[in-house]
Amino acid sequence: MVYPWSAVPSASSGGTAMPPNPNALRWLWQERRTSTLSIDQSGVWRFRDLFPIVKDFERVVTLREGNTPLYEMPKCGAIAGVDWLLAKHQGMNPTGSFKDTGMTAAISVAAERGFEWVACASTGNTSAAMAAYAARAGLRSIVFIPEGKIAWGKLSQSMDYGALTIQLKTDFDGCVKILTELVKKFPIYLLNSVNPYRLEGQKTPAFEMVEQLEWQVPEHVIVPGGNLANGAALGKGFAEMKQLGLISRVPKISVVQAQGANPLYRAMQANGGDTLEPVVAETRASAIRIGNPASWKKTVEVLRATGGWVEQATEQEIALAKAQIGAEGIGCEPASAVTLAGLKKLVAQGKITREERVVIVLTGHTLKDSEYTIKYHRGELLTAEETAGATAAEREEHAGLRKPPVVLEADMDVVLRELEAQMASSRVAETV
Ligand code: F0G
Repeated sequence: MVYPWSAVPSASSGGTAMPPNPNALRWLWQERRTSTLSIDQSGVWRFRDLFPIVKDFERVVTLREGNTPLYEMPKCGAIAGVDWLLAKHQGMNPTGSFKDTGMTAAISVAAERGFEWVACASTGNTSAAMAAYAARAGLRSIVFIPEGKIAWGKLSQSMDYGALTIQLKTDFDGCVKILTELVKKFPIYLLNSVNPYRLEGQKTPAFEMVEQLEWQVPEHVIVPGGNLANGAALGKGFAEMKQLGLISRVPKISVVQAQGANPLYRAMQANGGDTLEPVVAETRASAIRIGNPASWKKTVEVLRATGGWVEQATEQEIALAKAQIGAEGIGCEPASAVTLAGLKKLVAQGKITREERVVIVLTGHTLKDSEYTIKYHRGELLTAEETAGATAAEREEHAGLRKPPVVLEADMDVVLRELEAQMASSRVAETV
């Protein structure tokens, strides 16, 4: 969506409306933090001046989304080879993923326009967010998800929030096809990421990020790529801030895909992103198991405008990065961990230097896909072939990170002996 103040003024447009004053905006957004109004407490609607998408702001549907932490990640930074690494943890949203920031915006529009039914196709997080916000708004929701291909945590959420959950015997791309036909026949409001209002909400973490950094702009922001809406939305947020004079430059925005679901990576390699060939997607990072991304063109524009890169990560690299983020006490779902896996590669290739300040966007909470985590620590996740693809150093890192649960008899002596053994082995590890 383009606003009078967000478009670059042209001679023929006869001038634009008065842009909001950047200092006044900064002050207003700060002031709202102390307000008791739910709309001010929302980390999305606090920035509502930059997305006037509803007539009555008093009636927006909010769960106090946004306001997510920006964590320092010194250990992961050292692993990747940068001095300054932060993680913007969007998994700390009410339904556990970054989708809440867009959903509060789009559901508020749906409710204001009087829709009764809303629907989306999803790899699990959009559906969880939609079901929650629809329930808050008193709307009915229909979720289309690929059967057997989404994490249990996400499936349980859409049921808990009362959605009509339809599992189709296809993949995400197949679900999108069916839903696109369906909305032509029924008065259902479509909430997939092509919905423009979702992008308006999803641009706000860019505002929040620089506000948390006292209006400093990092050199690099890295996001996972699935349907490719998130990078586009953040790119829009940064571009609008620059246009308004809130910041003086934009960060590079880079996108990392799973190697088994990498149509954008392939497109950039093949033709610089002029055309994109869909792929049949396969990855355990089920959130980004998408072969035919809807918003790829918008993301290519952001990559070109900011000078960002596209990388890909193997299943083994994703698992390792996820364990490293977990071991730093943060945790995230597998799809989010591609950001760290990609960062390591971009540093190794010299595309990101040690001095650059980098923010990785962690898109989903670690509890979304606990099955993945348990399998990893039990050594049941990766195939022998995938493990064989790891370097010796990576194999050693996996071995150090794996913390499978220890099952013991409920006997004091047995427990003591185990603890002594564990402590002795960690002393050995420290002296090596
Ligand atoms: N990370 C997580 C945890 C996601 O759920 C998604 C997308 C992405 C990254 C990729 O973001 O699509 O904007 O490039 N999940 C969608 C869903 C597709 O249905 O929940 P994107």
